[in-house]
Amino acid sequence: MIFPSCYFLLTILLVHIKSLQSFFTPNTADYDAYGSKIAMNDYLLVVAQNNNQPPRFAIQFAPYNHTLTSSQCTLQYPNSTDTFIYTAAIGKKQNESQLHFFFIGEHIKNESGLFIGMATFNNLQQRSNLTSSICDTSFTYSLYYLNNHDHQEYLTLGVHPQGTRAFAFSNKYVAVFDTANASSSINTNIWDGNLTWPDSTFIPHAVDLSDSFGVVAGFILNRGNSTAKYSPMIYLLRFNSSGAYYHPYTVDSYKPVASIGTWQDLLTYDDADVYSAKYDMSVSINEDGKVLVGMQFINRVFYFAVNLTNAIQLTFISRYTNGRSIGNGKSIAWMKDGIAAVLINVYSLDYVWSTSQIFLFDIYANGYNSESVPLSVFPNSHQLLPSSFSSVFLNVVSSPSSLALLNDEGKVIIFSPTQAQYYPSVVRTGLSPFITTPKPCMAGTFKNKSGVFDCVLCATGTKNPGNASNECLPCSANSFCPLGSVADVPKSVLSTVYQVVPYPQSPESTIFDEIIIHSIFSIGSGHCLLVSPLFWALVVACVVIVIIIIMEILKLCVKTRRSKNVQHVVTYAFKHTDLIGDGKSWVGGLVSFSILVLVCFAYAFSNGYLKQYPIEQSGDSYFTCDESMRNAKFDTNVQSLAIPLAHAEQEMFDLLNEQIFTLNIDFVNTLVNCDSASIQAQVGLTWSTIRWSSCNNTDSVLTLSIPLSSQQIAVKVFLEDTKTIGALRIGMSSDGVKKEKYELRQLQFYQPFYKSGYMLSRNIPVALAITKIINETRPMEGEESDYSGIYIPTFTVDTNSLFATTKQYVLSSSIITTLSIAVSETPYYVKNIQQPIARKSEIIFRNLLFTIVCLEIFRLVFLLYKLLLKPIYQAIMRKYHHKTERELPYQVPMNGDLKAANHFKNGDEKNLDFTATTF
Ligand SMILES: *[C@@H]1O[C@H](CO)[C@@H](O)[C@H](O)[C@H]1NC(C)=O
Ligand SMILES: *[C@@H]1O[C@H](CO)[C@@H](O)[C@H](O)[C@H]1NC(C)=O
Ligand SMILES: *[C@@H]1O[C@H](CO)[C@@H](O)[C@H](O)[C@H]1NC(C)=O
Ligand SMILES: *[C@@H]1O[C@H](CO)[C@@H](O)[C@H](O)[C@H]1NC(C)=O
Ligand SMILES: *[C@@H]1O[C@H](CO)[C@@H](O)[C@H](O)[C@H]1NC(C)=O
Ligand SMILES: *[C@@H]1O[C@H](CO)[C@@H](O)[C@H](O)[C@H]1NC(C)=O
Ligand SMILES: *[C@@H]1O[C@H](CO)[C@@H](O)[C@H](O)[C@H]1NC(C)=O
Repeated sequence: MIFPSCYFLLTILLVHIKSLQSFFTPNTADYDAYGSKIAMNDYLLVVAQNNNQPPRFAIQFAPYNHTLTSSQCTLQYPNSTDTFIYTAAIGKKQNESQLHFFFIGEHIKNESGLFIGMATFNNLQQRSNLTSSICDTSFTYSLYYLNNHDHQEYLTLGVHPQGTRAFAFSNKYVAVFDTANASSSINTNIWDGNLTWPDSTFIPHAVDLSDSFGVVAGFILNRGNSTAKYSPMIYLLRFNSSGAYYHPYTVDSYKPVASIGTWQDLLTYDDADVYSAKYDMSVSINEDGKVLVGMQFINRVFYFAVNLTNAIQLTFISRYTNGRSIGNGKSIAWMKDGIAAVLINVYSLDYVWSTSQIFLFDIYANGYNSESVPLSVFPNSHQLLPSSFSSVFLNVVSSPSSLALLNDEGKVIIFSPTQAQYYPSVVRTGLSPFITTPKPCMAGTFKNKSGVFDCVLCATGTKNPGNASNECLPCSANSFCPLGSVADVPKSVLSTVYQVVPYPQSPESTIFDEIIIHSIFSIGSGHCLLVSPLFWALVVACVVIVIIIIMEILKLCVKTRRSKNVQHVVTYAFKHTDLIGDGKSWVGGLVSFSILVLVCFAYAFSNGYLKQYPIEQSGDSYFTCDESMRNAKFDTNVQSLAIPLAHAEQEMFDLLNEQIFTLNIDFVNTLVNCDSASIQAQVGLTWSTIRWSSCNNTDSVLTLSIPLSSQQIAVKVFLEDTKTIGALRIGMSSDGVKKEKYELRQLQFYQPFYKSGYMLSRNIPVALAITKIINETRPMEGEESDYSGIYIPTFTVDTNSLFATTKQYVLSSSIITTLSIAVSETPYYVKNIQQPIARKSEIIFRNLLFTIVCLEIFRLVFLLYKLLLKPIYQAIMRKYHHKTERELPYQVPMNGDLKAANHFKNGDEKNLDFTATTF
């Protein structure tokens, strides 16, 4: 007996629970629930405010160029406070006199409370002269209740562009609201969804209608054993104009298929049948039949084309995916001329919001795919959000010339199109709706057509000093003109200033003997010939030979007394200059002149060579063939700073360590001024503000000089300005000091940073390492060396992060340029040593040796002759004489000199001296 009564109670309970469940209790404060709460065309913007008490439509009439309370009003929802509006919609091409909009809604706590409605403004003359309450009396509602139809989790509304019909699409049914007979009771018709949807499980999420076709996006239930419960699906609809109610039917479909193995492929959509904003989709069709469908849960927007005159096919063109997150294509609005506004939110895969941005793509000009560079992005560095505007964006709608943005608090920004050279700037204070005002393009950017997008950067090689008309002006060929240029800046402002040159290498030979021998015994051409000692020695030798020949000719042919006297005097004189044969031979005397020439040249060379030290104070070596010859050898090495220094070096180090630097920074090709610059330096652990010593912007180069309190310091320069900057040049300067033998050289180096086709990015980290260079010049005489010291810089930067492309500029919303410079010292220093190859004493000694060696070499030759050639000659001559003696006993010897002849006459054959006859 108990069982049936229990069963009865249970049944009652279940029925009760079921009826409780069927009460629709949406979160009225959630502007993202169950559809788009904003709609606009060129005359009217409406926002459904479910959270108002009582709930209202906020109405804003055009023009949307400034906020006028006299063109705003609010309108109470039809029927009481318990009404929830899913979606508001309006026909894009409604004319000025058709001030009506559509909506679908539901009465909360009432099972059969679903309705489609239309609100019409009847007070056309008054629309720019409104008071807050006038709307309630000037609008009339016409509602159609979808009686006997259950609440649908997904119910979307599409309005014909002319505003003549509105269609409510759901899985179960499709309802049409026709204004043609709005007053009659048969203005609405409703039929089963399975007559329109090829797959009866299709759940429509978003729809847009054009004049001849419609596109609806949603989910279908997967049958069979697929891992995903639902799959996204897009249908192309047409409307049966022959029937009375424009019955929609599907002509084509597109099923997005994720690539195998991607995160999109692993989605199962288990909960896609219950409303969740995560599964929001968006569809927008423009006047050319181009269609954009956004599916934020796969982070993807699809781009299709439909033939306007023959809409039978949904032709896929391309798609844009935004990585592993959710939110790309949450809302999409085509604007004029092929420009589309795409709301790109970033949610984690768990649907936790992180950022919202509107990307404006020029799809006709640049195409549309994952690599596409947007024309502009909102918010950005100079189009900032109003301070009271929440940064969670929900929807964008277009009129299509204006654009309106709805955020999660129900506030609206309206972007009015601005003419060329102006961009829409958002007023940062005031009340919703915020309306943009036109502002002229920043220098370095331009805008050549009307629209709501931002100005774009001048291309490389063009500039806009702030007065260009529609296009940027070309720069002159020899100026530095990067992306976003504001002026012709001469390339010379980007010159590198080096203060050191590679340290010279020691000559091939650093032995003085080799050097002197080489320069004495080499013959070149031109200048080398003129300064060649050997050449002049040979010239003298030639003269000597000529003299000898003349003498011999005299001896043989002219046998007068006078000639004999001359010969006698000459031989006598030359015998006295004979350094080889100890004054015994006049030919030796002649040859000694050659030796003398060589030796004199050697002395002259040595004298000149001695003065070629140090190299800093010596000119070219004109006295020898190699004009670069210096009496210096070099040694360069790298030493650790950890090794204790010699006393002499310590003083040089002290001077270097005490040097006070001034950091010089040039921002090139920019209109940023000193007023936006601030500087911080790291002192200890804290960053504190420091001041510049001079700052000015001359000819579009912002020059900053910052005295540094210590050598190793980190400095940050902030430029709180959104203007473009082309390049950067960093340098350091410091005064020099000379103290006895120590010279601290003046510091003045510059290093430019630029990249053709790029501009400077907003965040610029630069590491600067300084290295000590110490030059020691050993003295020619004495003990104490001269020292000079200087710091050299090594810059370490990542050139990729230093420079920005157009895309990076567009995507960046940073309003501040930060240059961070960290100065540190390398743990080593470079030591250069210069010392003379030969000092004075060595040179004198070597010259002495050279002289002796020269003489000895000639003597050796002479000796060889004496010991070897002469006996042979004599033997030959003797044989010859024995022969001729028999024939011509008294003949004077052919080659004999006076003395020899006398000996011969005296019959003293044995003492015959041929000494001088041998040459
Ligand atoms: C706003 O636009 C209308 C028409 O487009 C124009 O007549 C009016 O002068 C504009 N107002 C302002 C403040 O720009
Ligand atoms: C709502 O208002 C309309 C007219 O404005 C009326 O016809 C309808 O009966 C009302 N419905 C409810 C539930 O109040
Ligand atoms: C605005 O409306 C008020 C009364 O509602 C009327 O007196 C006034 O003339 C109107 N002004 C304009 C410009 O229409
Ligand atoms: C369409 O669905 C309705 C119920 O919603 C059903 O009665 C009808 O048979 C279905 N028609 C087709 C063709 O499946
Ligand atoms: C379902 O699973 C069976 C076997 O497990 C397989 O043969 C069949 O192709 C699967 N069907 C689909 C639609 O994946
Ligand atoms: C659109 O369809 C019409 C009629 O079929 C055809 O003549 C025309 O070439 C099509 N246009 C395009 C762009 O395909
Ligand atoms: C600008 O500052 C730099 C150093 O910071 C200085 O050399 C130059 O003369 C200044 N120019 C003007 C016009 O003041």
